[in-house]
Amino acid sequence: MSEQRKHKPATQLATLGRERTSSFGFVNPPLVRGSTVLHDSVAQMKERVRQRFAGVDRPTTYGIYGTPTHHAFYDALTALEGGHASWAAPSGLAAITTAILAFVRQGDHVLVPDSVYWPTRRFCREVLPRFGVTASFYDPRVGEAGRAAVEALFTPATRVLFLESPGSLTFEMQDVPLLAAVARARGAVSLIDNTWATPLYSRPLEHGVDVSIHAATKYIGGHSDLVMGTLTANDSAWPRLREAIHQYGVTTSPDDCWLALRGLRSMGARLAQHRANAERLIEWLRAQPEVERILYPAAPDDPGHALWRRDMSGASGLFGVVLRPSVSEAACNALIDGLQLFGLGASWGGYESLIIPANPERTVVPPPFKGPLFRIGAGLEDAGDLIDDLAQGFARLRG
Ligand SMILES: Cc1ncc(COP(=O)(O)O)c(C=O)c1O
Repeated sequence: MSEQRKHKPATQLATLGRERTSSFGFVNPPLVRGSTVLHDSVAQMKERVRQRFAGVDRPTTYGIYGTPTHHAFYDALTALEGGHASWAAPSGLAAITTAILAFVRQGDHVLVPDSVYWPTRRFCREVLPRFGVTASFYDPRVGEAGRAAVEALFTPATRVLFLESPGSLTFEMQDVPLLAAVARARGAVSLIDNTWATPLYSRPLEHGVDVSIHAATKYIGGHSDLVMGTLTANDSAWPRLREAIHQYGVTTSPDDCWLALRGLRSMGARLAQHRANAERLIEWLRAQPEVERILYPAAPDDPGHALWRRDMSGASGLFGVVLRPSVSEAACNALIDGLQLFGLGASWGGYESLIIPANPERTVVPPPFKGPLFRIGAGLEDAGDLIDDLAQGFARLRG
């Protein structure tokens, strides 16, 4: 067992990425800002450049290839994900698009779940065709129909299978090991948006996925003050991904990596509270007559619950609330408008509770419900206060 893997996740969160702690003795790695790296001699410079082209990122030759601050964060993430290497991109979406572009060329085909984060859908639909790459969308629950149904999605040109489990608006769980196994057998790479579960609760590389992607903007940052994406690859996908990262010039500021590494330190404790608050809110919401369904894979009645139990070791605090079809959009908006503690805004994973009305775009299978949908990111406030706020919202909904 490697040094990185011998400790439990909570210990890993507290210890990983600290190997580079400065000689001054501070607990945390220093924030190193820099572009130019000076070399002692031409021979040393040539040797370092040779190493870089051979796949060695350290010692670095230039700021775009990462400072010790970047690499401290990458090391921590790689160990958490059980991967070969990691990198950060300027946003979660940039990480997704970088990963897709890394593995396709003209004439290739990409498979994308119908439940995917909408900007990922738009990229596949609008940008990939400009480069001669086609994308088709598939039922995120195709795995329930068995291996043959998954195999039938693939064409000889399929190079990338994209997954997002659960989907960030409609929360369908995917059969990740099955989908990844079929992709591998068909010579395609599998990429997953793993943001909901975080690297703490889902290690998709262990299920055969090639690249795990996070919007670190969410739970890794955890404080709504960071926009970042991450990529962690296994050893077979990393050389191509790394090459693309350097060809495209994908990098982030060391300050952002420093914040992301700091976010990891408290992520376990935060997630436990996010989930506890989500479950308190869900229990209360279920008792409201206007609520038809809760979308949350950790709930025993969720259609994805068995997959969640099998493949994940915990749950975050993001869930969907489906109202009865008889509730009008205006009534749903009245619930949301006027909330005092729930912010109305994009994103999730910060310390503050958020709510947003949602209208998922689907082209293959309709969303598994009819009534209005809103999504809640349970924050770290007192659950009783949050319930009081929602209770006033439901009073407004009832007019
Ligand atoms: C599931 C999921 N993936 C990716 C992203 C994109 O992250 P970013 O906003 O950092 O581009 C988001 C953002 O909301 C998301 O919800």
